[in-house]
Amino acid sequence: MLRWISASGQPLLVGLLVGIIKYIRHGYNGPAMDQLQHITRWKTEMVATAAKPYRAAGRFAWHFARGKLGGDPAFFGLLQNGLIPAKSRILDLGCGQGLLAAWLAAADVASSAGNWPQEFPPAPQVATYRGIELMPRDAQRAKVVTGNGISVEQGDIRTADFASADVVVILDVLHYMPLSAQDDVLNRVRRALEPAGTLLLRIGDSAGGWPFHLSNYVDSVVAIARGHKPGRLHCRTLSQWKSDLENLGFAVTTIPMSQGTPFANVLLVGKLGGAAV
Ligand SMILES: C[S@@+](CC[C@H](N)C(=O)[O-])C[C@H]1O[C@@H](n2cnc3c(N)ncnc32)[C@H](O)[C@@H]1O
Repeated sequence: MLRWISASGQPLLVGLLVGIIKYIRHGYNGPAMDQLQHITRWKTEMVATAAKPYRAAGRFAWHFARGKLGGDPAFFGLLQNGLIPAKSRILDLGCGQGLLAAWLAAADVASSAGNWPQEFPPAPQVATYRGIELMPRDAQRAKVVTGNGISVEQGDIRTADFASADVVVILDVLHYMPLSAQDDVLNRVRRALEPAGTLLLRIGDSAGGWPFHLSNYVDSVVAIARGHKPGRLHCRTLSQWKSDLENLGFAVTTIPMSQGTPFANVLLVGKLGGAAV
């Protein structure tokens, strides 16, 4: 039977169309296509490994993990771009069911087994991971990936103590709170980060046209399904985000992070220069 979603969560028809367009534009390029197939297979294995623990949390948690890890370019992109420095202590704010922890643990397994793409920077082999998640059900599902330096707690990032971290990750979270609360979270993130720390912040660019509005619509629906009260989302343009982070002392680079989706998401990589706060 034809499946519309591949094992990695990619829409099959989209993958097929992209392949046909590439073939028409560039012709057959054997080594590049072999390489692409190799990476695709590797990613499929990674998704399966990372999602596996969620079987113990129920069918929804497992299917959600497979779909999100396979379809959201952020997880693959963090590894492909080497955005998490080695042996980091990670703080993941609004961590949902802890998918990033599961993904990084799978990366550890793959790298230790010598199954690591040679064109990627080395695997991050994180020191510790701490996730904070507002919704009790998500925090509960995340329990299946805790232990061995991974912890997930139920809490509100507007009030939680961030302690200290080398890397703070915030993927698609801040727009759920008003701008003043976002600023307060970012100020506390800045103080929690070590002098040479990194902030990985994914946002929707409010100047991004219909892809931005589509992602906001999807986010609103998903938030209600997760148990949040309906409410408006609070967004900024990419250039506003960039200058606001720069004003906090971050050197900022931006990476488009919505490949394979119809959204306008961008990952801001904020680096501190080693100066104490
Ligand atoms: C779109 S999901 C992203 C989840 C996760 N970052 C990921 O990429 O898989 C946004 C998450 O932020 C959480 N969240 C929203 N407001 C929060 C808050 N004030 N404190 C902690 N978590 C929050 C939501 O409950 C939800 O799990």
